[in-house]
Amino acid sequence: MPAPAIGPDGGGCFRPCADATVLTREENERLTIVGPHTPGGELLRRYWQPAALSEELPPGGAPLPVRLLCEDLVLFRDEHGQPGLLGIHCAHRGADLSYGRVEDAGLRCIYHGWLYDIHGRCLEQPGEPAGSTFHERVRHLAYPCQEVGGLILAYLGPGTPPLVPAYEFLQAPVERRFNTKIYQECSYLQANEGNTDSVHVPFLHRVAGRWGPSPSSATRRIEMVMEPEETEFGVRVLRMEPRTDDTVQTNIGNFIMPNLSAIPAGRRDGYEAVWHVPIDDESHWKYAVQFNRSQPMDREREGDHRAEMTADYRLLRNRANRYLQDREEMKGQAFAGLGNCFQTQDACATEGQGAIQDRTQEHLGSTDRAILLIRTMLLRAIGDVQAGREAPHVVRDPAANHFPNLLVWTERVPASTDWRAHLRAKIAACEAQVDPG
Ligand code: FES
Ligand SMILES: [Fe+2]
Repeated sequence: MPAPAIGPDGGGCFRPCADATVLTREENERLTIVGPHTPGGELLRRYWQPAALSEELPPGGAPLPVRLLCEDLVLFRDEHGQPGLLGIHCAHRGADLSYGRVEDAGLRCIYHGWLYDIHGRCLEQPGEPAGSTFHERVRHLAYPCQEVGGLILAYLGPGTPPLVPAYEFLQAPVERRFNTKIYQECSYLQANEGNTDSVHVPFLHRVAGRWGPSPSSATRRIEMVMEPEETEFGVRVLRMEPRTDDTVQTNIGNFIMPNLSAIPAGRRDGYEAVWHVPIDDESHWKYAVQFNRSQPMDREREGDHRAEMTADYRLLRNRANRYLQDREEMKGQAFAGLGNCFQTQDACATEGQGAIQDRTQEHLGSTDRAILLIRTMLLRAIGDVQAGREAPHVVRDPAANHFPNLLVWTERVPASTDWRAHLRAKIAACEAQVDPG
């Protein structure tokens, strides 16, 4: 994929209009097909991925069936509290291990009693003759897990797992973070692209009192400037939007390889991390972690969108009920008529693009440069993995497991401020490990 080229006016198509498609069908498939042994799936498997929230697997609780990257697995905690992720079908005759018994330092199949530990070792085969060593020759599919920051992460790739990146949001203690996840009926990629597509915010998410005087005025021009740049971890986006009171809103948001975003979401004392994890090619879990660096979390406020979800992390307003869009609300209350919940608004927009968006039919504008840069990086990384090279932002050196240049920022400054220089100074302070605030 060539580097993005912008027309002389800074807008319009990124490729000659005779060839207005942005991705080829093959490129789109490389990015969105994620099963085992696919190019896109092989890239995602080079990184730790969330398999569940910790709260889904309480100590002493039932095993949890998990579909992750098109693989059917079962997550359980052994009697020591250690999480294990195994192939869901028993190595004996294929029974579903999520119905198994958690006992005797492992997970025991209810069909004939075979017992597995978290490493996939078969510890017992009670139907075999006494003294049989058959169990020693059975090795069940098992993936390494680590529990950090309220998430259970798994590594589905080959070889020695890399380090779990020491992101700030994974270090926050429970009182300073709020974790949830939301089911999304679409490819992980298009939802993640929405995180760097900031120009949608004052449209899709506009409700009365948020982003301007009234939803009906949202069709005014949005004078937002977005400047993406490549970094070691992914893509940083500097953003500026003028406000009506002689100030400008500035932001720094980040795409982190290969399916994570770190965005301000209106926070100064922390940020929101959004991890879009494929269930399969056409659905994913959106894991969201909000955290504070210093203040305890207001759990009631942070959790209020859970009121819009079922206990199994599905949105009450969803594709099946057309998100309960309200045309009356659109006249004065909410631009999209989808209520007040960001999650519902985003789901309507990204699921509406189709299970896998056909990116051969897009017409990208100047505000889509970050999306193009992300796709370029992902396609290059897929090529690296296919060629046997290490994927970018895979961390193996403990001394390199910190990310001072990964700054998430939001600040309103006077319009006379050189906002680029202002944000660059914040990044430089962060890199020098000085508090940028
Ligand atoms: S199928 Fe699991 S023990 Fe036989
Ligand atoms: Fe959004």
